Amino acid sequence: MVEKTINKMIHTKELALNSDDYCPKCKGKKSMMINILGNMRKVPVLCKCEKEKYEKQRMIDENTEKIYKLERLREHSLMDECFKSCTFENWKHDKNSQNMYRIGINYCDRWQEMKKKNMGFTFWGPPGTGKTYLSFCIANRLLQNYVPVIAISTINIINRIYDSYKRYGQQGEVQIINSLKNASLLILDDLGAEYTSKAGKEKQIIYSILDARYRDKKPVIVTTNLNLKQLKEKLRGNDRIDRTYDRLLELAPPIEIKGISKRVAEGKEKTQILKTLL
Ligand SMILES: Nc1ncnc2c1ncn2[C@@H]1O[C@H](COP(=O)(O)OP(=O)(O)OP(=O)(O)O)[C@@H](O)[C@H]1O
Ligand SMILES: [Mg+2]
Ligand SMILES: [Zn+2]
Repeated sequence: MVEKTINKMIHTKELALNSDDYCPKCKGKKSMMINILGNMRKVPVLCKCEKEKYEKQRMIDENTEKIYKLERLREHSLMDECFKSCTFENWKHDKNSQNMYRIGINYCDRWQEMKKKNMGFTFWGPPGTGKTYLSFCIANRLLQNYVPVIAISTINIINRIYDSYKRYGQQGEVQIINSLKNASLLILDDLGAEYTSKAGKEKQIIYSILDARYRDKKPVIVTTNLNLKQLKEKLRGNDRIDRTYDRLLELAPPIEIKGISKRVAEGKEKTQILKTLL
């Protein structure tokens, strides 16, 4: 009986909170007593400073994860280094480009709706009017929001497919087209500027890419120098059926981009600088 009482006393003493259970810094509890099925048990808890330390570490981990995710998305976007600076923040505003800016910003702001409605654009118009710039601004803004985007020139994707034939045969093409299909948004820059030597094969590749997106109900943004009649002809199959153009128009309704070439304007500016050097 005496032994039992002593045991109980020791046990209770062990169980009770003592000075070690309080944080010397914030004076908060580092342990607490809880009743588990009738037995009192001491369990560890986080004091205020431990909580802060934990929260700080969690935020660091979260940020590292975000940065890592962004890097991976950027890598998978296939985007050339030089287009990474195409951003709405760097946008040079002028009278001609206000509508383009609005379209781009609104598209990104309403991305969930655009994605659901499978909405893209065909930006067509003369060289140097900022079609590529606008498309890559959209790509960069969406990537920043963790949307998987692939943004690549049509020539580049065709070359990649040709290269993959050498290594993987026909399977290479299937794999590349599948990976394009996986992106939430595909940007095909400079459609219609492909080589013409193997036009039949290229038409088939472009058809496969657009058809895969069409069937998956996933949006595409296209830029082209061709007007709509020229584009239709360029994409026309050997059997003279417009199945590619037809899909494109539904996926990516055309928007004409007017104005004078920004390259010409930049060239003029450089001529002025040159004059000052002479
Ligand atoms: N809004 C803008 N802000 C800053 N620079 C721009 C803007 N739009 C275009 N530029 C610059 O002007 C030049 C031409 O633009 P871009 O390449 O987008 O034209 P494009 O319409 O795609 O031409 P092309 O039809 O020949 O491909 C590029 O150097 C681009 O960086
Ligand atoms: Mg372009
Ligand atoms: Zn503490």
